[in-house]
Amino acid sequence: MSNEPSDQHRHEHQHRHEHQHRHEHQHPHEHQVLNPATEEVIATVPAATPEDVAAAVARATGAQRGWAALAPADRARLLRRFAAVVDDHIEELAALEVREAGHPIGNARWEAGNVRDLLDYAAGGAERLNGAQIPVAGGLNVTFHEPLGVVAVIAPWNFPMPIAAWGTAPALAAGNAVVLKPAETTPLTALRLAELALEAGLPEGLFQVLPGAGPVAGAALVEHPGVAKVVFTGSTAVGKGIMATCAAGVKPVTLELGGKSPNIVFADADIERAAASAPGSFLDNTGQDCCARSRILVQRGVYDRFMELLAPAVTSFVVGDPADPATAMGPLISAAQRERVRSYVPEDAPAAIRGEAPKGKGFWYPATVLEATGPGDRAAVEEIFGPVAVVLPFEDEADAVRLANATDYGLSGSIWTRDVGRAVRVSRAVAAGNLSVNSHSSVRYATPFGGYKQSGLGRELGPDALTAFTETKNVFISTEEQ
Ligand code: NAI
Ligand code: MG
Repeated sequence: MSNEPSDQHRHEHQHRHEHQHRHEHQHPHEHQVLNPATEEVIATVPAATPEDVAAAVARATGAQRGWAALAPADRARLLRRFAAVVDDHIEELAALEVREAGHPIGNARWEAGNVRDLLDYAAGGAERLNGAQIPVAGGLNVTFHEPLGVVAVIAPWNFPMPIAAWGTAPALAAGNAVVLKPAETTPLTALRLAELALEAGLPEGLFQVLPGAGPVAGAALVEHPGVAKVVFTGSTAVGKGIMATCAAGVKPVTLELGGKSPNIVFADADIERAAASAPGSFLDNTGQDCCARSRILVQRGVYDRFMELLAPAVTSFVVGDPADPATAMGPLISAAQRERVRSYVPEDAPAAIRGEAPKGKGFWYPATVLEATGPGDRAAVEEIFGPVAVVLPFEDEADAVRLANATDYGLSGSIWTRDVGRAVRVSRAVAAGNLSVNSHSSVRYATPFGGYKQSGLGRELGPDALTAFTETKNVFISTEEQ
């Protein structure tokens, strides 16, 4: 219990009978949070109504005025203190992420550390929101980066803790308030972060977390005229709807949507390294990763060798209890997500490689590698968001680039080659926001992150994240004699 959040609105459940009872007769204004590895109810949280949303936006509006009026150094100091409080609670936050999202404990610790690091990084930005002095005739011209006001962050369930912070940290640093709506399945880490913000001394109302249903609380937040910007991470379909709603209020949006990213293995690559990296690149987070390299493109001459190496690498990926430090892959988030994955690949469909998954309770799904029947294969072009990869052979560099770009998405991708020129050429030719060469890493808090095409709009993280939460004001001061 020491790992549980202490939010007074939340009721921890002790008895399974009570869980099952609640499960069947759930009050419309609350959500149950399940442990996806056991299907046990671990908490019940209230689901915000549109009235709750309006009250939160009003509180945030008040808090934002005071926050923006603080000296930049004071905002920076409070955000650094928030980072320090998060640092003191890494184990607790990681344990919560394990329980509500089913993430392996090692990954969950990284996620909590990412929140801390990003808060620290953004804090420094509060004092470096420099405008420009631009040479013009007849006067002095300067620009200011001014906060927008109240920012809505709509977070997903796949990386609930870090993605909650990606919008929040830079928005706060730039002088805004944040109202965050976590995903229905994963509200607990976000609620705990809001408590830790208060513990660190951030003003009441500045960072509020409102759990609730997407179409109710999420939609009310997006529509609210007091919300100046929306940051959304989730499905492409919902993202398009949010963008349309924002059009009515001419509100800026940042969208981080889906992906179907390529992992391109050239014949000149270190094939052993490429094959050793490939399982993590589509199995980490049980494939519920917008950057998952779920299309493995392999040059014809090394295809058989690569598949020989890939099979043991996939089947030895350790699946099981997320709390066990030896575990590399946990369950999917929910029964609904497992049904989505099964709709692409029934668990008994023929597969080139298939791993094991625990039987019984929990939303388990085995690691699966399919050989594409053709590039138009539904499983080869649509986001599955599960531990499933599709392998396709290619002939030459031009063919690899053509296949890599044959999707509506463009979030990330990997290129495996020892040829520097090719690495640069292919990196430039693939229409995606985050590419890595001889690596499958995509996310660093100090580098920009976001998608091309239908993978999104705008960038998070990196040096420009703060200015994305500001309006730029230009002021011209005449120097003519009065
Ligand atoms: P979703 O897009 O419905 O959920 C993401 C967030 O949006 C949640 O907080 C949800 O409550 C909220 N939301 C839903 N409808 C809303 C609305 N009308 N207005 C405002 N907020 C709303 O995603 P879902 O249905 O959980 O997952 C479906 C698929 O979406 C996944 O299989 C995956 O392909 C993709 N997805 C991609 C993510 C990414 O990292 N880019 C994250 C989550 C899902
Ligand atoms: Mg949905």
